[in-house]
Amino acid sequence: MGKVSLLDLQKKKEAGQPITMLTAYDYPGAKLVDQAGADIILVGDSLAMTVLGHPSTVTVTMEEMLHHCRAVARGTSQAFLVGDMPFMSYQAEVAEAVRNAGRFIKEGGMEAVKLEGGREMVAVVQAIARVGIPIMGHLGLTPQTTTKLGGYKVQATTATTATRLWEDALMLEEAGCFAIVLEAIPAPVAEVVTKKLTIPTIGIGAGVGCAGQVLVFHDVLGLYDKFVPKFVKQYANLWQPIVTALESYCQEVTAGTFPTADHSFKMDEAEWGKFKEMVIPPEYHPSTLSRVAMSEVKKMKVRI
Ligand code: KIV
Repeated sequence: MGKVSLLDLQKKKEAGQPITMLTAYDYPGAKLVDQAGADIILVGDSLAMTVLGHPSTVTVTMEEMLHHCRAVARGTSQAFLVGDMPFMSYQAEVAEAVRNAGRFIKEGGMEAVKLEGGREMVAVVQAIARVGIPIMGHLGLTPQTTTKLGGYKVQATTATTATRLWEDALMLEEAGCFAIVLEAIPAPVAEVVTKKLTIPTIGIGAGVGCAGQVLVFHDVLGLYDKFVPKFVKQYANLWQPIVTALESYCQEVTAGTFPTADHSFKMDEAEWGKFKEMVIPPEYHPSTLSRVAMSEVKKMKVRI
C-alpha cells in the first residue's frame, strides 16, 4: 500500500468505503497505527490529556504539538497525517492562524491541519486553504470550548442546534475543508450532514452514518485512566498487562535475577587478567564479585 492521499480519502467517501482515522502522539504509536492500516493519523490535541496528563486540551502549546508531530511523522509511512491546531493558535488572528498552520507542515511534518469551530472559523479556513494547506474541520462537541458548551455533552440535540450544525458543516465545506470531524452528535443528524456534504465526515460518537470514524489511541487500547466516554469502544485493555510486566521487572531487579548472563557483555580472558592486575587490589577477593560477573569470568570464551 502506498501513501494515502487526499484523493484516496475523497474516493473512499464517494465509493461508500469507510475512512479509518486514529490518533497517535509519538513514534511507536504512529508505527502501530500505520501498521494497522489506518487511512489517517491525527496528532490530536487530546495528547494534552492522554499523554501530558492535563485535565483538558486547552493548555497544550504549539511547541508541544510540533514536538509530537515530528515524532509521529518519523513513525508513519502510509497514513495521511493531520496535525491538530491547539487552542489560541488560530482564534485570535487570521494571519497568525495561517503561519501556525504552516508550521505544522514545515516543522511538524504534517500534511494537513485540523481546527475546531463552525461559521466563526470560515475566514480562517479560507485563508489556510488559500495558501494550499489542506484543512479539516471539527463540529459538535469541540473539546477546546467545553467550558462554553457546559462540559463534555452531546451536541446538536434540538432541531435548532442540529440545523445550526448542518449549516456550519456546509459553510466549512464551502470555505475549503477537505473533511469534517463530527463529535458527539445524534447519529441521524450526522448521517444527514454526511449525505448533504461532498467531502467526508469523520465521526466520533456520531454513529455509523459518517464517511469515516476516529478514536483516540489511548481509549482504544485502554491506556487512559481518567474516564471512558460512552462512544469509545476499548478494543484492548493494556493497562494491567503493562503494569504486570513492569512489576515483574522491578521484582527481578530486587531479587537479583535480572540481568542474567544473556543480558550481559563478556570480556576476553587475557584482557580480564590484565585488568584485574591493573585495578583490582589483592584484597578484592573474586567471591565479592557479583554472580553474573563471576559466571562471565569463568566462561570468558566469547568477546563482546
Ligand atoms: O484531539 C483529538 O484527539 C481529536 C479527536 C477526538 C477527533 O480532536
